[in-house]
Order: sequence, then structure tokens, then C-alpha cells
Amino acid sequence: MKQIHLAAHFPGVNNTTVWSDPQAGSHIEFSSFVHFAQTAERAKFDFFFLAEGLRLREQNGLIYDLDVVGRPDTFTVLAGLAAVTTHLGLAGTINSTFNEPFEVARQFVSLDHLSGGRAAWNVVTSWDAFTGENFRRGGFLPEEQRYERAKRFLDAATTLFDSWRDGGEFAYRDEHFDIAGKFDLPRSPQGRPIVLQAGDSEEGREFAAAKADAIFSRHATLADGQAFYADVKRRLAKYGRTPDQLKVLPAATFVLGDSDAEAQERAHEVRRQQVSGQTAIKFLEQLWNRDLSEYDPDGPLPDVDPVVGENTIARGRASVRQHRDPLATAREWRELAAAKKLSIRELIIEKTARQTFIGTPSSVATQINDLVQADASDGFILVPHVTPGGFDVFADTVVPLLQERGVFRADYTGPTLRSHLFGEESL
Ligand SMILES: Cc1cc2nc3c(=O)[nH]c(=O)nc-3n(C[C@H](O)[C@H](O)[C@H](O)COP(=O)(O)O)c2cc1C
Repeated sequence: MKQIHLAAHFPGVNNTTVWSDPQAGSHIEFSSFVHFAQTAERAKFDFFFLAEGLRLREQNGLIYDLDVVGRPDTFTVLAGLAAVTTHLGLAGTINSTFNEPFEVARQFVSLDHLSGGRAAWNVVTSWDAFTGENFRRGGFLPEEQRYERAKRFLDAATTLFDSWRDGGEFAYRDEHFDIAGKFDLPRSPQGRPIVLQAGDSEEGREFAAAKADAIFSRHATLADGQAFYADVKRRLAKYGRTPDQLKVLPAATFVLGDSDAEAQERAHEVRRQQVSGQTAIKFLEQLWNRDLSEYDPDGPLPDVDPVVGENTIARGRASVRQHRDPLATAREWRELAAAKKLSIRELIIEKTARQTFIGTPSSVATQINDLVQADASDGFILVPHVTPGGFDVFADTVVPLLQERGVFRADYTGPTLRSHLFGEESL
């Protein structure tokens, strides 16, 4: 039987997080990160995961309502966590569009040393000029150049990671980078930090197949997950790699209860907390690309059409990129709402739903294991809806069941993240 990999995603700013839950704590105080990471380590998870957003998102010219605290710097948080954990992998999302290979390679090799071989880099390309305004060049690259730069960036960083073979001497030159010198840190404990990838396009999948150790996907249900899994694993051979060299780890959330019925009821309540009436209107505006604040979230969808063209209402939102053809999507949403008699809020609850494991600890353990054994994934990057305590019950109830069934480690068998993922300490 395949062994399951599990990671803990610290959610920070998004509508998965239920801020109003009485159990919810700070999203920025160090104690929250410590609680979250130490629970994941107690549960023997593979790694802790931080996403990245480098500008507060805006909507209708105002800071988006769920972005009130932003996110502290990734390396600072991960370095702090390295001191209060011993085995848990520490994965940070760092984009390749605004940074330089030398500084990023130094930061990851430093984190790998400080943590004894637990660093992972989720290489993202970023996508919006709005965020780019915060950086030196005051903008970003055209879409077709972003993965090109990401590939070259990772090649350059890999040259730096491997430079210990030549006493630190390196030289790397292509159309994006022209760097040469001496790398100033000894060999990383893992040989190289673990590389994750999170893009979903054709280029993103090729990039992952060629260069990543794990891929963070959105495809977590059985059929969709299996199709994605087969697709990316098939791509590995042409890069001389075997299917087990790339782990597929979709995002998923969970709701537990003492009975399946109670968990269902709780899950329904969580969805209503995640999508308030106000949040539903904000989501709808992201597709409609116009102010809909006058609409009743408990009423029908607007009969006006979306504004086609550049999305100017929502700035810094990744989700607007999914609406490539807003008129067609609006038509589809109207048809669905009419057929099922859904209000705006009910429709948004349905359209923004993600893979969620709902049930008793035993049924959730079964659901997770079934998907992994059916090759819909190699495990999951789990995101709870309550921070920082959302993993406590999972660690105490679901994990022991997975361990009993022999599909999840009872203890760490090696010190590095590479050993958790691949059974070898170092390259
Ligand atoms: C599951 C998932 C998580 C992502 N997380 C982040 C993130 O935290 N920060 C970020 O800047 N981009 C993030 N991205 C964006 C991707 O890294 C990538 O830049 C974007 O999806 C464009 O690439 P694509 O066209 O291949 O999807 C994420 C994408 C996916 C699919």
C-alpha cells in the first residue's frame, strides 16, 4: 500500500479561514505559527506550508475584507519555526519574478542549514502587475515570459545549490541571468532544498515534471485527481524521471464530527461562515467585474452582464484568472442558479467549494486513504478553517487511525524533509 504524505497549510488570508469562530486566534503572532507547526509535527506531518501574497488585495478601491492582516515574511517565519520544531519540513512560497537567484538560493540554503535539512521552496511565478508595482522594476513579465524566467531562475539556483562540488565556484548565463562568482555557504544538508510547484497550466505542468519534487494542485476529487495525477506522472519519463520522483499533493480541507450526520451539519455551517452575504457579493463582483453592492445576496443573480476586458474591480486576486470567458461563465452560473433555485450566496457557496473531507475520524481516514490508493494523489496539503487550533483534533483522532492502518508513518524515520518524502536523507 502507498504511504500517505500530509502537509499543513497555514491559511493566513483567505476565505477558508473563519475569523469569527470563537476558537480563531491571531494570524500574525508567532505563537499561532508555533501552535500550528508543533501540532503538525506531533502528527508526524511531512511539512508546514506557507503561501505568499506580496500586496494586500483590493476590491472597489478598498482593501479586500479578508486581507486585514496581510502575511509576515516567509523566511522570517520559517527560520523562527526551525528553532521550535525538529523534524517537520518547512516549505515557503517564493516567486521567481521579483527576486534574484543568488539571494533566494542563499536564503534556502541558510534555512536548510538552520533547520538541519528541512527546507522546501514552492516556486511560483506570480501573475499580476498590481503586485509587481511593489518591486524595483515596478511591474512584471508578460505571461509567456514568466515560466521562462522561472525555469531559468531555478536552473541558476540549482547551479548555486550544486556549486559546492566545485568549491563554490559558479557561472550561469542565459537570456535572463548573467551571474558568476563564488557561493558562500557550504553544501545544503539535503543536497538541494526540496522544490514544490503550484501552477496548473501546460507550462506549469511541464515545469513541475522537469524540475519539481512535489506539485501542489487544486485537483483533489477522485476523477479530477486521477486525471491530473496520470497527466503529470506521464510527463516525467521524457525528463528521465520515474513517477515516484514527483509527489502530487492537492489542497484539501476537512470537517470532523462524532457522527457523519453531525459532521455534515457542521460542514454546512462552516461553509456559511466562510461565505457570508458580503463575501458572496465580493466573489460575484470578481466575475462580473463591476460593483454589485446593491444586490441582495439572498436574492437572484444580477440580470446585467459582466464587464468584459481587463478586470479592474479586483486587484491582486488570483481567482479572477479563472474567469477567462466571463460572459459564458455568468450564463452557466445563471442556468445553475435557476435549475437549483439558488440565491447568490448559495451559488457562491457551491461554486467556491473545495475538496473537503467530512465525517467521523474513521470515515475521514478512509476517504483520504481511498483517494491516495486510487492514485488521485500521493497525499494532501490540508488547510483547516480554524487557525491556529484547526489540526488539534485531526492530529489526535484521524492520524492514529491512518497509522493503525499502516498507511502513515508512526514516527519520522529520518531527519530531513527529503527523507520524509523520498526515504533518502540527501541527494
Ligand atoms: C494550488 C495553488 C496554489 C498557489 N499558491 C500561490 C501562492 O501562494 N502565491 C502565489 O504568488 N501564487 C500561487 N499560485 C500561483 C501559481 O504559482 C502560478 O503563478 C499561477 O497559477 C500561474 O501559473 P499557471 O498558469 O501555470 O497556473 C498557486 C497556484 C495553485 C494552483
